[in-house]
Amino acid sequence: MAEVTLEITRGTPEQGEWVETYTVPYADGMSLLDAVQWVREHQSPNLVVRFSCRSANACKECSAVIDGKVGYLCNTKAVAGSRVKLQPLSTRRWIRDLVTDLD
Ligand code: FES
Repeated sequence: MAEVTLEITRGTPEQGEWVETYTVPYADGMSLLDAVQWVREHQSPNLVVRFSCRSANACKECSAVIDGKVGYLCNTKAVAGSRVKLQPLSTRRWIRDLVTDLD
């Protein structure tokens, strides 16, 4: 079965940060937000990510740093066999895991 490996920055300003690696089964058409949601449902329910619209690029709540570039988790396709690094935005106040202030 094809998989996607996610290296996700976890933690809080109080706890500090660390990287957790998750292996997610790939599905056709899967976005990185779908992959993160799979992790929340099957491996780490306390992983925090913010989103609302899920695909329209309208809410911008799922912004993150994806392999070093700012992007939206919901409209970035996962690639079978890939390894992807996901980090919170560095330009906004970090709250927890992939979530930062909206301002
Ligand atoms: S969930 Fe709204 S832009 Fe990604």
